[in-house]
Amino acid sequence: MTQFLGTTREASRPLHLIGFHVSARGTRYYDRAALLIDEDGRVSGSVERIAERDGVAQTAEARGMVMGNRLALMLEFEGASPSGVMLDLAAETRRHGAALIGRIAGADGATALAYVMAHAPAARLDRSPTHGWGTVLENAVLAGETVLGIDGPVGAEQTPYSFRTDDNRHVEPTGYGHFVNHACEPSCGIVYDSVTALPTLVALRDLAAGEEVTFDYTGTEGDLAGAFECRCPALVHKV
Ligand SMILES: C[S@@+](CC[C@H](N)C(=O)[O-])C[C@H]1O[C@@H](n2cnc3c(N)ncnc32)[C@H](O)[C@@H]1O
Ligand SMILES: [Zn+2]
Repeated sequence: MTQFLGTTREASRPLHLIGFHVSARGTRYYDRAALLIDEDGRVSGSVERIAERDGVAQTAEARGMVMGNRLALMLEFEGASPSGVMLDLAAETRRHGAALIGRIAGADGATALAYVMAHAPAARLDRSPTHGWGTVLENAVLAGETVLGIDGPVGAEQTPYSFRTDDNRHVEPTGYGHFVNHACEPSCGIVYDSVTALPTLVALRDLAAGEEVTFDYTGTEGDLAGAFECRCPALVHKV
């Protein structure tokens, strides 16, 4: 058994994380990571890097080390030159789950950029039958339980990915929230934190592992920033 980010898990069970950074050219990248941590803290696994909007993933092999609350990770991207990048991250507790905060740099240590990796105990990222990538339940949750806390920069711009918290106030999620699809009969509803007003997704019924985390965009988002024809499993659609 290994202990990291407030969870105890068998060494053979992957830890799912989602990394985020903005490249020097301004592209937003999401890293879908599945990591195995052995009893000595050695880390191995894979990362798929998804560029915002095109959804295409670039695969990397991950190797590294957990030391206390720190994670050092080397990513070797297939076919890239130079192929290696280093992550140096420290864990902190979030409202729900945890995040690893630090820097990403080329293997030579040049141009370190800010990097955040989120862990939501109940969630992972997977392909969605509705659209592209979707946030999927890793564990079963009961009705009323929190599934996901939405975190990220808050601003006046509404985007196809943002969560509205008030008039002219939108959170641009850096974690699993970025990939939550709309459903006309959703699995989750939105509750707002009484202090920060940040949204939380809460299960509307008992949900099984593998079910998709969805919410009804029309309940909170007003005029949607990106129009789409709904392909959710409901028979009657709202959008
Ligand atoms: C927050 S993103 C969700 C993540 C998205 N699936 C992806 O792979 O990037 C929202 C966008 O996903 C698509 N989408 C979300 N829910 C959908 C649905 N029920 N039917 C069709 N497309 C949907 C729309 O293009 C929408 O603007
Ligand atoms: Zn629908």
